[in-house]
Formats: sequence, C-alpha cells, structure tokens
Amino acid sequence: MWNQGIHARAGVACADCHMPYMRVGAMKISDHHVRSPLLNIANACQTCHRVPEAELEARAENIQTKTFELRNIALDALVELIGDIQRARDAGATDDQLAAARGLQRKAQFLLDFVEAENSTGFHAGQEAARVLGQSLDYTRKGQIAIRDADLPTTRPAAAAAGRPR
Ligand code: HEC
Ligand code: HEC
Repeated sequence: MWNQGIHARAGVACADCHMPYMRVGAMKISDHHVRSPLLNIANACQTCHRVPEAELEARAENIQTKTFELRNIALDALVELIGDIQRARDAGATDDQLAAARGLQRKAQFLLDFVEAENSTGFHAGQEAARVLGQSLDYTRKGQIAIRDADLPTTRPAAAAAGRPR
C-alpha cells in the first residue's frame, strides 16, 4: 500500500514523518516516540511543506475523511452480503449453492481488512486505498449477484409464508 503513494514515489522515508528530528538542548536527535505525525506537524511535515500547519492538517484530513467514507460504504455492503448469505442458508440453501458467494465474501473481507490494518486511513496512499476498497465493493457486489443468480430456495418471507413451492 505505502509504496503506491506519492511520498514513497518522492523518496520520503518512514522516519522522515514518524521519527522526525527534534532538539534536546543543543543536540539534534531523532524522535523515537513513534506516534501520529499529525500531532507533530511542525517537525514531521513542515520541514518539506512550507505551508501553514492548519492547511497541512486539512489536506491530510481530507484524504482520511474520504477514505473513511469509502471504507464505511464497503463495510456496510459486506455486512449486507453476509446477511444475504445467512438468509439463503436459513431458507435451505446448501453449502454448494452458497460456495461462490462465500468465496467472494472472503475476498471482499480480505481487501477491506488490508486497508484497515494498514492504519493510515488512506494517508500513505489515498488512491491505492480507494482502488482496493473499490475492488472489495466489486467482490461484494458479485457475491450478491451470485446469490441472486443461484438456483436457491426463495428467501422472501412473504413468499415462504404464502406456501409457494421452493
Ligand atoms: C509523509 C509522511 C509519512 C511517511 C513518509 C510515512 N507515514 Fe506512516 N503515517 C503518516 C500519517 C499522517 C499517518 C496517519 C496518522 C493519524 O491518522 O493520526 C500515518 C500512520 C501510520 C501508521 C498507523 C499509526 C497508528 O497510530 O496506528 C503506521 C503503522 C505507519 N504510519 C507506518 C509507516 C511506515 C512503516 C512508513 C514507511 C514505509 C510510513 N508510515 C511512512 C505519515 C507518514
Ligand atoms: C521529506 C519531505 C516530506 C515530508 C517530511 C512530508 N512530505 Fe508531503 N510530500 C512531499 C513530496 C515530495 C510530495 C509530492 C509533491 C509532488 O510531487 O508534487 C508530497 C505530497 C504531499 C501531499 C499531496 C498528497 C497527494 O496524495 O497528492 C500531502 C497532502 C502531503 N504531502 C502532506 C504531508 C504531511 C501531512 C506530512 C507530515 C505528516 C508530510 N506531507 C511530510 C514531501 C514530504
């Protein structure tokens, strides 16, 4: 993920942001309190970006807010797919009939976890995070289609109550 981002492309190293230099008395040492660079913008970012702190914070937040929004959309969709699979199973669908949807569910989950575990909420590589979340959404979509198109017993409560044949 990181290596797809603009800072990696520009040759910026982890330590430039996460372990910036600081002054202790007359000495210049590197900060070993690994913490959010956004709590230390003056040392972590303004060495390179000569723009006001609030502006830098806003730029980072802009990337993170959008990534988080997309992450929530992908997560909601995945939860819907899991619900669809559960309802189909409760209505009598076999493991064979659900295999395709479950496989797609796992792929969607893996990609979502991948972005989640990376933990910068898109900051390291915003477009790459968006691409991976888009792929996750696509697997979820295909999983719901797999359920729709499989020859499953009906999962509609109304139809079941009306005693329609499965
Ligand atoms: C251009 C600055 C920059 C560089 C370079 C950078 N990061 Fe980050 N990193 C950030 C920012 C900003 C965040 C998000 C912090 C936040 O949301 O509070 C972050 C978040 C993280 C987190 C999650 C932090 C947490 O508190 O959970 C980890 C882990 C991390 N970075 C590791 C790395 C590694 C490893 C590298 C090098 C491969 C790297 N970073 C390079 C700016 C940078
Ligand atoms: C060692 C220098 C360096 C440091 C430190 C650094 N940056 Fe950058 N940053 C760059 C370069 C170079 C680019 C790419 C600019 C370009 O090529 O146009 C960039 C690009 C960006 C962009 C545009 C990102 C995008 O996706 O288009 C943002 C936002 C940004 N930096 C924020 C930060 C923040 C916030 C920090 C501190 C956490 C930080 N930078 C630390 C050098 C640095």
